Amino acid sequence: MKKIVLGTIAAAMLATAGLAADYIMKVSHVVSASTPKGKAADFFEKRVEELSGGKIDVQVFPNSQLYGDGEEMKALVMNNVQLIMPSLSKFTSIAPQMQLFDLPFIFRDKAHLYNVMDGEVGAILKSKIDEKKQMMAMDYWDAGFKHFSSSKHPIVTPEDAKGLKFRIQSSKVLEAQFKAVGGNPQVLPFSEVYSALQQGVVDATENPLSNFYTKKFHEVQSNLTLSSHGYLGYLVVMNTKFWNSLPKDLQENITQAMKEATELERRESTIEDENIMEALRKYSKDTNKLEIIELTPEQKQQWQKVMADVYPKFYDVIGEDLIKKAIDTK
Ligand code: LMR
Repeated sequence: MKKIVLGTIAAAMLATAGLAADYIMKVSHVVSASTPKGKAADFFEKRVEELSGGKIDVQVFPNSQLYGDGEEMKALVMNNVQLIMPSLSKFTSIAPQMQLFDLPFIFRDKAHLYNVMDGEVGAILKSKIDEKKQMMAMDYWDAGFKHFSSSKHPIVTPEDAKGLKFRIQSSKVLEAQFKAVGGNPQVLPFSEVYSALQQGVVDATENPLSNFYTKKFHEVQSNLTLSSHGYLGYLVVMNTKFWNSLPKDLQENITQAMKEATELERRESTIEDENIMEALRKYSKDTNKLEIIELTPEQKQQWQKVMADVYPKFYDVIGEDLIKKAIDTK
């Protein structure tokens, strides 16, 4: 009996250490484990291990623990990590066309967005990644629409953005977006945003609610504008060499687990947006330290008008036809 118990513990320890598995798949991301992306990555781990009967040991590293967003792409290409899910903005140097997702006000709502992602435009954009042969595009995941926040003064009209130092992700479209309103954009890795806001290295930023709340940015910003002016989503990418090293049945297990994880991720993203909005309103009311601003349709139109100047600047990079196709998607 004692022997059996010890054997079970040893097997569990071996599995934890990845020693009993035929393959180890490291998964790295930069956000909290409690975001939709974090939850879906953990779910994917569980499902791959279940479906493969433990032949694949998936190890998830959240919060930039293993690689920050400046390093994860290189680590993937070198097969030091096998699966990552960077935001679409972070594919700028690999596939600049992906910046389509960064264009301000391009999506009318979530239904429109999913139809673009899962339709012809999404497939064309994925093929730009696959062409590079080092990584394989899997699914699009969702973080939600982005909102402005600042520590200086409420951002209501485009005038309010003038002179503010905005933290941005590494995307030329995002740079142009803030320049269009007289802001001063600065690229910073996600892991440095909290301290940069705290120390006043930057004044303002744009985030989906899940990232804003789980990284406690509300503690270092005095106001949040529900602008939904931009979008933040992800592309899950796998190292091609790793994928090709797997037997067909394990590839099928991964495809199945990814399909389920994508469904869960998108569901979570919608639920979380509502839950976090409620938590932020409570925080705002209880502490009086965060002003939450809603924009009227007229105010939103002002932003849309000024930011429309960004589009023609990227016709060559993204493709005017592709932008049009995305806008025309039903
Ligand atoms: C950011 O850098 O703001 C985001 O890409 C972080 C993330 O992965 O959601």
